[in-house]
Amino acid sequence: MLSAQERAQVAQVWDLIAGHEASFGAELLLRLFTVYPSTKVYFKHLGFCPDETQLLTHGQRMLEAVGVAVRHMDNLRAVLSPLADLHAQVLRVDPSNFPLLIQCFQVVLASHLQGEFTVEMQAAWDKFLTGVSVVLTEKYR
Ligand code: HEM
Repeated sequence: MLSAQERAQVAQVWDLIAGHEASFGAELLLRLFTVYPSTKVYFKHLGFCPDETQLLTHGQRMLEAVGVAVRHMDNLRAVLSPLADLHAQVLRVDPSNFPLLIQCFQVVLASHLQGEFTVEMQAAWDKFLTGVSVVLTEKYR
């Protein structure tokens, strides 16, 4: 459960990246595939080129879903339910991949926002993304 201050910090970070969903999302995927090559098995159809349309499209979809989660922090379970079904029952993504994505997400934020991405913002964002991941992986059980 995020405090009021943590929620404000998550929203502040989102305001800085909103509008750049495709490019940030594609960079996030590229970092994930490069740093943790085992994650690439789920995305055989994607390449490694930062301006590849499919990579940008998937990056945009993924970040738009994060944007929806930011707007519905109180209701994550309900808004993310279809995505949770997809990842657990259709895609069967192993839950151990989620912390890897969270780590790469923070590196993308830090590299772009630099000093604007404060220690407190990182802590709040980590907590928020962990909450999103809990919801996306709980239907495995
Ligand atoms: C598809 C979001 C984590 C693998 C998707 C879609 C969204 C999404 C919005 C598209 C759904 C649709 O087309 O209806 C997220 C979010 C995540 C997350 C918000 C975590 C914060 C992961 C992880 C993996 C993964 C960790 C595996 C390493 C996939 C795959 C697809 C997918 C393989 C299908 C891609 C395709 O059809 O082209 N995800 N995802 N996701 N996700 Fe995730």
